[in-house]
Amino acid sequence: MTKTSRRAAAAAASAAAVLAFTAACSSSSSTTPAAPAATGSATGTITWFANQFGPTTTDVRKTLIAAFEKAYPGITVKLEQAPSDTDTYRSTLVTQISGGSSSFDVYNGDVTWPAQFAKASLALPLNSYFDQSYWNTFSNGLVSSLSYKGQTYAVPLFTDNAFLFYRKDLLAKAHLPVPTTWEQLQSEAETLQKDNLVKYGFAAQFDSYEGLTCDWTEFAADAGATSVNSDGTSSSIDTAAAQKALTFMRGLITSGVTPSAATTFQEQQSESLFTSGQVAFLRNWTYAYADSNTQGTSKVAGDVGVTNLPTFAGQTGPGYSVTGGWNLYVNPHSKNLAADVDFLKWMTGTQAQTIMAEQGGEIPTVASVLADPQVQASNPAYPVAAKNKLNARPSYVAQYSQVSQAIYTNINAALSGSVSPSAALSSANSQINSALSNSGL
Ligand code: GLC
Repeated sequence: MTKTSRRAAAAAASAAAVLAFTAACSSSSSTTPAAPAATGSATGTITWFANQFGPTTTDVRKTLIAAFEKAYPGITVKLEQAPSDTDTYRSTLVTQISGGSSSFDVYNGDVTWPAQFAKASLALPLNSYFDQSYWNTFSNGLVSSLSYKGQTYAVPLFTDNAFLFYRKDLLAKAHLPVPTTWEQLQSEAETLQKDNLVKYGFAAQFDSYEGLTCDWTEFAADAGATSVNSDGTSSSIDTAAAQKALTFMRGLITSGVTPSAATTFQEQQSESLFTSGQVAFLRNWTYAYADSNTQGTSKVAGDVGVTNLPTFAGQTGPGYSVTGGWNLYVNPHSKNLAADVDFLKWMTGTQAQTIMAEQGGEIPTVASVLADPQVQASNPAYPVAAKNKLNARPSYVAQYSQVSQAIYTNINAALSGSVSPSAALSSANSQINSALSNSGL
């Protein structure tokens, strides 16, 4: 049978199921979940809007699509390239979906988006389409981060953790141990720089964007600080603990350990400084292990170690890693929900999640895949991730994007030296409070 005739046969056989399924989709409400739909018989073409993830040199999205189309010959997946920066991507989605666009069916979205997207009806509620045994396959805590007011708005595609990547060769030359506190990292970096072994000590994401909210949340948590109180009603950022974290971060720049250009660094620029051999320590996400150890594109391949982030002296280690990562969401205007759900299910099944882990360099969301000894052995970052102390950004508030903006613009201003740490925290405090008193995106 050709692909087309197979598709036609599958379409005829499943027409009733698809109709029933579509009816269940359109009649779903947050209070009356329909029975899980029968899947596996959908046909047609769907468009997946996604930015590239995983190592720079391998586009694992294409590997995943090819394997999915083999498993589901009736469905074709078209890939549409999304902006790589999470903030730009979010604005694009908000404009398109709120304008009624159905030019894409499923989309990758940041782990911080469920509450805000739910509130603005930018994502389809999914409880009706997946039963409890499906949700039970994911690692602890992941599903609650997808929920808002009792509904679940995405499926977890992959998890990002933050790590400290370091130059094993430089530490060996200088007879220095792998640092476990931020203070130790700073002094070791200064030694390596003084001995002319490396130009800079530490690189991270200090640009004014979402990545800085991640880095800030980690330094702040290590100092015992938070940005929003636990019930999401007010700012908690203007404290002595937060001041300690921010003063330390600014000190990394004034001491020359971190280049002042880091206030314009996103993930890619900080990683390039590391892979070009110009910095000893790097804070970055899981895929940076694969990137920095790729012969040919990284000058430091083979010399890179990975460990948990440090904490502040006097605290119990390791340091905090923010939970990052990306989910798969369904466009509420999609016209092919049955195929969308087949795609979501397959992408969160064993085969796709194993490809993600072994070829995509990303932490799988399915607990059994992550626990698989072969997967664990495929990337030295995974056993380190198991020891990570995780912390979430305050994305349980629907005003999260404004809260995050209040954080990263003010923290960036202090890191650039244009305002003092205390002035930056006081201004972040009032902006977070005013964001929390607004009702929407
Ligand atoms: C990574 C994380 C995501 C985070 C972003 C910030 O993509 O997975 O959660 O928001 O970095 O730049």
